[in-house]
Amino acid sequence: MAATVIVGLQWGDEGKGKTTDLLAESVAVVVRYQGGDNAGHTIVIGDSVFKLHLVPSGVLYPHITPVIGNGVVVNPQTLLDEMAMLEERGVGTANVRVSEAAHVIMPYHVALDGAMEARLAGEEIGTTRRGIGPAYADRAWRIGVRMADLLEPGALRTRLERILPEKNAVLVQTHGLEPFELDDLVARATDWGERLRPHIVDTTALVQDALARGLHVLLEGAQGTLLDLDHGTYPYVTSSNPIAGGACTGGGVGPLQVDEVIGVMKAYATRVGSGPFPTELDDETGRHLLERGHEFGTTTGRRRRCGWFDAVPLRHAVAINSVTSIMLNKLDILSGLPEVRLCVAYRIDGRIVERLPSSPDLLARAEPVYEAFEGWDEDVSGIRRAEDLPAAARRYVDVLEGLAGVPISIVSVGADRQATILRRERPRRATVAGPGWAGGGEAGGPGRAGSSPGAPVDAP
Ligand code: IMP
Repeated sequence: MAATVIVGLQWGDEGKGKTTDLLAESVAVVVRYQGGDNAGHTIVIGDSVFKLHLVPSGVLYPHITPVIGNGVVVNPQTLLDEMAMLEERGVGTANVRVSEAAHVIMPYHVALDGAMEARLAGEEIGTTRRGIGPAYADRAWRIGVRMADLLEPGALRTRLERILPEKNAVLVQTHGLEPFELDDLVARATDWGERLRPHIVDTTALVQDALARGLHVLLEGAQGTLLDLDHGTYPYVTSSNPIAGGACTGGGVGPLQVDEVIGVMKAYATRVGSGPFPTELDDETGRHLLERGHEFGTTTGRRRRCGWFDAVPLRHAVAINSVTSIMLNKLDILSGLPEVRLCVAYRIDGRIVERLPSSPDLLARAEPVYEAFEGWDEDVSGIRRAEDLPAAARRYVDVLEGLAGVPISIVSVGADRQATILRRERPRRATVAGPGWAGGGEAGGPGRAGSSPGAPVDAP
């Protein structure tokens, strides 16, 4: 057994928690590799619903070691609260392991995240205000505090003596907020360290040891490809690398130790926070997706923006993640719509564009070019075999699969584990069918001009 990566192919909230749940039986270790408590994974087991932000969803299975890898930014108080909540509900947390190299989200990071968003009023990123960006910025600036530092109060004090004056200066002078007090911060951090001491280990060694023993390691991405710091819709992104490559830097595996990448996507699109979203629907269909899909943020409770599936970034997402197969979630939510649409290209300034432009201004001007399909009325949530799906639903899934270029192996038709259709074998190390050589990229242009696949019908 080698490692499997689960990665979101859209703007997060694709239902990756359910993928982990489906695979759990074969897995010995589940690793979170990036992000922090900005994430929200919902797992439904029977009548129980678990909403987790930081602890990997593997914690719900006694045979799994849940690991928070070095690439995660950890708010220790959230971690302690989440572990206490799990214990209260009868879920043991003694097995939880946190990387000694993971960076700590300090209280001043949370304060700065909120303050910086407030200052951007009207132009804000729409962050979760959990301190994610400021914590990753300090990591890159080499002034971060790591989990191992919490175990060394003397060294921690010296470090904070150097860092805190600068943080306080920004908080007080730029944002007009209260400063943090050194003694109080050291005391809180030391207390976190003491309580988390049994959980703080070298998780890279742990993961490598598991792989060497032939155990199945699952690396669980948070957020999604379009929120990736490098490959997403910058600057409206998170501050880490949710893509599968992030599993190597943040989870402690080598690229060739990963032999399966499951891309997870919903049958439509959602986005939380600001930023261009070409297929966004502010109409009856958008409300249908919001209400039927319960599209409210797990972390912030915010309404998710909803829209048609955008296939323009799909090939790109499949390629950069080396996706071997796809899990398609929430197909049941589309039931009852008279027509279903897929965005297959953009029209930007009169040109047809088939690739995601990296400029947010161009993306903001993108008008979707849709392919329209017949909808279906039937409730599909009780269906367990692909051939029993209504013909229109089958066709929609087939078209999505053709656009992705890799098999859609699993289709989910409800939140529960049982509400799942195993449609095809899950290949490992599949070859991605590339979109064809399109030249070395176009400097200064929004993308490649040309016709879009499948004779798209423009939206009226
Ligand atoms: P941050 O990660 O809190 O800095 O937020 C940056 C952007 O990522 C914002 O648009 C957030 O709404 C979005 N974001 C962060 N975490 C998630 C998530 O788990 N699901 C969906 N969007 C997220």
